[in-house]
Amino acid sequence: MRGGGGAAGRRLVAMAVGAAIVSAAAAATAPHTRALPAAITDPVVARSDYIEHCGGCHGVDGRSAPAQVPELRDRVGYFMCTPEARAYLVRLPNVAHSRITDNQELADLVNFVVFGLGGASAPVGAQPFSAAEVARERRLALSGPSLKAERARLVAAAIRRCGAPASLKRFYGSARG
Ligand code: HEC
Repeated sequence: MRGGGGAAGRRLVAMAVGAAIVSAAAAATAPHTRALPAAITDPVVARSDYIEHCGGCHGVDGRSAPAQVPELRDRVGYFMCTPEARAYLVRLPNVAHSRITDNQELADLVNFVVFGLGGASAPVGAQPFSAAEVARERRLALSGPSLKAERARLVAAAIRRCGAPASLKRFYGSARG
């Protein structure tokens, strides 16, 4: 009896977790609709990978504590503006050195971030990342000092060429420079 109850209980927990992920996914995309690219193998896996590997710092829906961690929501898509800026997204240390070794899986995660969390900040017609692109760029990981200078250059180009807001210049949202 107890065993059966336990299994049912576990099923219920699993269903609740699944429902929470699905409703959180809906909430994350609701106000800023941009369809997730069909290139994402499994959007539910991409989202749960994001939550596991990135969400602790960047927040489950891309809204971080902006004093320490850059906000992704409604911003990160601007980095799809130029080839250099999209490369930056994969060269970021926490992305390039991710524990996810499967490049398609990491591409799916980054596509979820760009199109799902970035919403309308992703330029219309931006092409999703492929596994090959991720494999190539993650070998060129950035580190601290080069990262800041590179970002400043990329953001200036995104403002000029893709209409990114001047507030993107601030790494840490409105709280800090
Ligand atoms: C330990 C906390 C942490 C984790 C985990 C983390 N990040 Fe970050 N992320 C940061 C910090 C801090 C920065 C600022 C740049 C830096 O120091 O690397 C950043 C920068 C970024 C940026 C650039 C934003 C901008 O405006 O320039 C993106 C995009 C990003 N992270 C995506 C991810 C993704 C995708 C993952 C998961 C694979 C991830 N991050 C995991 C802390 C984290």
